[in-house]
Amino acid sequence: MNLSRLALSLGQSATLKLNEVANNLKAEGKPVIHLGGGEPEEKIPRGALEESGKLLDAGFVRYTPTSGTAALKKEIAAYTEQYYGVKPGPRNIVVASGAKQAIYNFLVSVIDPGDEVIFPAPYWVSYPEMVRLAYGNPVIVKPRDGGLLAKASDIEAHITSRTKAILLNSPNNPSGQVYPEDFVRRLVEVCEDRGVYLLMDDIYNRLVFDGLKAPSAFAFSKKPLNESPIVSINGVSKTFSMTGYRIGWSVASEALTQAMIKVQAQVSSCPSALSQAAAAGALREGGSFVDALRDGLQKKRDVMVAELAKLKKVKLHKPQGTFYSFADFSAYEPDSKKLSGLLLEKAMVVAVPGIEFGLEGHLRLSYCGAEKDIIEGVSRIRKILD
Ligand SMILES: Cc1ncc(COP(=O)(O)O)c(C=O)c1O
Repeated sequence: MNLSRLALSLGQSATLKLNEVANNLKAEGKPVIHLGGGEPEEKIPRGALEESGKLLDAGFVRYTPTSGTAALKKEIAAYTEQYYGVKPGPRNIVVASGAKQAIYNFLVSVIDPGDEVIFPAPYWVSYPEMVRLAYGNPVIVKPRDGGLLAKASDIEAHITSRTKAILLNSPNNPSGQVYPEDFVRRLVEVCEDRGVYLLMDDIYNRLVFDGLKAPSAFAFSKKPLNESPIVSINGVSKTFSMTGYRIGWSVASEALTQAMIKVQAQVSSCPSALSQAAAAGALREGGSFVDALRDGLQKKRDVMVAELAKLKKVKLHKPQGTFYSFADFSAYEPDSKKLSGLLLEKAMVVAVPGIEFGLEGHLRLSYCGAEKDIIEGVSRIRKILD
């Protein structure tokens, strides 16, 4: 087969691969417990169904403008103003087929071959490969002293003349940690001073527990949106439990947004019209759905923390948001792939190896599924390890 060097060099998405493994085992009737998942189990908001239903009834499901429908952009602008304190115009928004495509649009729009993109570990599994897909070089900054949050000064120290962007995901997949205000403020200052883009992957931004809020980068910006290096990525996959609809978006300066629209126009024309209608319905219905989802996840977080505390040698920083825990299992087995394989084989529990997120010795265990699965899954792990 005559494949490109790029295609040959790309790794598979570890999380998607494990989803497949779990689904296949379930289909074979095996008693597998999937703690590797990345989507809430709640039904989607009523408003989303109604809105896409109207379009189906009308029988017109056509291309939309590349950057998204006016109706959805209006909801996104209102949502961004409410939760981020900045009001984007329609020329600051690109609706994409998932936050993932929005991130890809951004990377392709700013990276020249060999440019660098910095992000802290642990990071979302897709970042390194997505940067490589755009012919860039990922630069990873690890936390110190067994913590899960890198220092802003360490990130700053990695900036070179080739640095195009810093990526920050807070609250963070996999760690569940929220980067504090001082950290975000410092990154905004550095990016504005040095002319480096700051991509905020805000996809879990409203799934934060115990009354805490994830700081918005826009709050610390000294520049108007059209001169700002900040790009905020968001979507309906996680907060509205609409992973299958594939709707995400970016909010950025007009100049950058126009470049991203060109990229998307050539790659996918536009996101699905039906899904855009559904996303507008979800955003309009808004608050109460997300509040209920977050409160439910907080309870499951507490169950996961309590269950993990029963393992003698696990170290855990309590997750502050998302639906992931990222515990240190290195006292049992430092090689996280080996440990994940062992748990699958001996306990029929799917857990994602920490190395896939750039931090060895950890396992990512999700608590977006049923409470009984969290309890049973962790108890099976305990039986094997303790
Ligand atoms: C940190 C992070 N960013 C982006 C995404 C992509 O979301 P979407 O489903 O909107 O493409 C995910 C999904 O797992 C994620 O965890």
